[in-house]
Amino acid sequence: MQFERISHPAPVPGKTRAEAIANPGFGTLFTDHMVTIDWSEDKEWHNAQLAPRGPLTLDPAASVLHYAQEIFEGLKAYRLEDGTMALFRPRENAARFNRSADRLAMPNLPEDAFVAALEALVDADKDWFPTVEGGSLYLRPFMIATEAFLGVRPAKEYKFILIASPAGNYFKSGAPAVSIWVSDYTRAAPGGTGAAKCGGNYAASLVPTREAFDRGHDQVLFLDAAEHRYIEELGGMNLFFVFDDGRILTPPLTGTILPGITRDSIIDLAREEGLDVVEEMYTLDQWREDAASGKLLETFACGTAAVVTPVGKVAGHDGEFTIGSGGPGQLTSKLREKLTGIQRGTAEDTRGWVMRL
Ligand code: PLP
Ligand code: COI
Repeated sequence: MQFERISHPAPVPGKTRAEAIANPGFGTLFTDHMVTIDWSEDKEWHNAQLAPRGPLTLDPAASVLHYAQEIFEGLKAYRLEDGTMALFRPRENAARFNRSADRLAMPNLPEDAFVAALEALVDADKDWFPTVEGGSLYLRPFMIATEAFLGVRPAKEYKFILIASPAGNYFKSGAPAVSIWVSDYTRAAPGGTGAAKCGGNYAASLVPTREAFDRGHDQVLFLDAAEHRYIEELGGMNLFFVFDDGRILTPPLTGTILPGITRDSIIDLAREEGLDVVEEMYTLDQWREDAASGKLLETFACGTAAVVTPVGKVAGHDGEFTIGSGGPGQLTSKLREKLTGIQRGTAEDTRGWVMRL
């Protein structure tokens, strides 16, 4: 796909940018450019632009503003040791984006166009790559329904947008392991949109997330909707449980949790370590019991933003418990190093996961 390139009249001055990328945090700073591509029934995908980042003009009746017809993705660009910029498994994000689009009755964007957009933006804004240790350029592709229409049906006009944000650590607390709050709210029910990456899922998670924060925790944990016993996932991450017999468990993809690309990568890397990885349902009660008996050694969360993060403490209305010593476990650290080594080009990429730009 060819992008019309619109030059930036006033990019952020180098000095301001240097200060920003030295300590970026997560999700508050944005680069100079964005990609936009429009879709309409007659022209399909057209009007592809790499333009200065700026406000959108939307009709107040645009469907996205009323019925939340919106999907998004999250992935990171890394700088390899030789200075080359690289993406990690971007085609998996492209494929998941289209699965989300299918669930939200939105048009598919060809995978090549999705990847071309990432390449164009990273190339334009690579000077925004953070100078902080472990930094990356977080990429946020999304699609919104732009048609001005108040009837409830799939819209006939859409806009794909890609923005980028220099990123450091996702968790502000900087603690070696995070603390999670088990919510009484439900994130997703069978037949719902839990497996899609759509804004509505995250809107519904905000009250439970605020509750977790107000109680001093870093993330919210959701249980299944039907029985409220089985562990599903965190607000923005998947979970893994490590046992003393070499087994490692993660909840199965039953349609109510997001099929994480980090999750999929960790399953592969853990199997390579000789671990017996199972995708099975696991209850909160069993988890508490296994943590107390010492059968459960470690628990970690994983996702693009969180990478691999140890879980140290779990709290809910029934009380709280600690995982292992409450700090990072050995396997968690090993898997994190394996994954980030591949992503940053310091470990061999035997699976073709890294796409050099
Ligand atoms: N689960 C939820 C709800 C998420 O928002 C994310 C983040 O994208 C994940 C899991 C992890 O997915 P991935 O590893 O593809 O980033
Ligand atoms: C990600 O890890 O990319 C996410 O989307 C999680 C969160 C920032 C929404």
